[in-house]
Amino acid sequence: MAETPAAPQGERKKIIFSGIQPTGVFTLGNYIGAIRHWGPLQEEYRCIYCVVDLHAITVRQDPAALRRRTLEAYALLMACGLDPEKSILFIQSHNPHHNQCAWALSCSTQFGELSRMTQFKDKAARYADNINAGLFTYPVLMAADILLYQTDLVPVGEDQRQHVELTRDIAGRFNGAFGTTFTMPEALISRSEEGARIMSLQDPTRKMSKSDPNPKGFVSILDEPSVIMKKFRGAVTDSEAQVAYAPGKDGINNLMRIYSVFTGRDLPAIQEEFAGKGYGDFKSAVGEAVVQGLAPIQNRYKELMEDKAYLERCYQEGAQKAMSVSGRTLEKVYKRLGFLHK
Ligand code: TRP
Repeated sequence: MAETPAAPQGERKKIIFSGIQPTGVFTLGNYIGAIRHWGPLQEEYRCIYCVVDLHAITVRQDPAALRRRTLEAYALLMACGLDPEKSILFIQSHNPHHNQCAWALSCSTQFGELSRMTQFKDKAARYADNINAGLFTYPVLMAADILLYQTDLVPVGEDQRQHVELTRDIAGRFNGAFGTTFTMPEALISRSEEGARIMSLQDPTRKMSKSDPNPKGFVSILDEPSVIMKKFRGAVTDSEAQVAYAPGKDGINNLMRIYSVFTGRDLPAIQEEFAGKGYGDFKSAVGEAVVQGLAPIQNRYKELMEDKAYLERCYQEGAQKAMSVSGRTLEKVYKRLGFLHK
């Protein structure tokens, strides 16, 4: 992660907001690069995390699958250490302020700005038969997500930097036109340091992605131990048979980074540990370390999914807490815009 400035004592805790889409599985790459950092942030910051189902429908979703995945995503965030007592954890569609604020902000957003968003251009090319208005205005809803909570920091991947920049432009424009209403947020981008960038197990020159058509390329946080072992044993490497971190050895470098994250050992120590041993031993060791590291998360996830009543209580309370924060901002927005009070 980019260095997280310490929250100065005596001042209000800084606010962190992030959203995660309930589409597809969470991969080992998502876990290592992002989600595993979120738990520890709860100690120092006021954290607000949201499963963004409204964003998900910009691409056609099967309704039953969306409903299931939304709950799974919520449970998985909790299993990864997000605590609904310490943070606000909620589901986007449960808080109508997001839609309401997005409309107000859309009138402070230019057509030209939205046309320049690379994610829009990519998705419009990928889903050419469904270039809907929601896909186009997606970044305005994301700006509403962020700005409603007076967010200071937004932990996201590099691909979302442009959306956070746009959020800042919108906030600045609104503040300038109507008086200071929103805190100016900043992106907190994962650095491509050790562990931050996890590559496909089948093509280690490409980022590990849940949309990889070859499921052997990615590990899901919820994969069974036997599946994880199989994927690591089948990981593509070079033919040198030397466990050493070196340019061009993308497959081995990737496995060494993963092993390092799960064992806490640094690269020289790993090289020493496997000196004189073959890739087969190393791949099995990486698989075992990952299986062991994910076991507590998988166990907690299973427990949570067996207690739907508890999950329901958590997300309902989460929505109430979210609304009490976002409601204050929305009220200000409406007042500033000149809407007659009810
Ligand atoms: N657009 C983000 C993504 O695809 C998800 C998202 C929606 C988000 N709203 C957000 C991320 C607010 C951070 C803050 O990953």
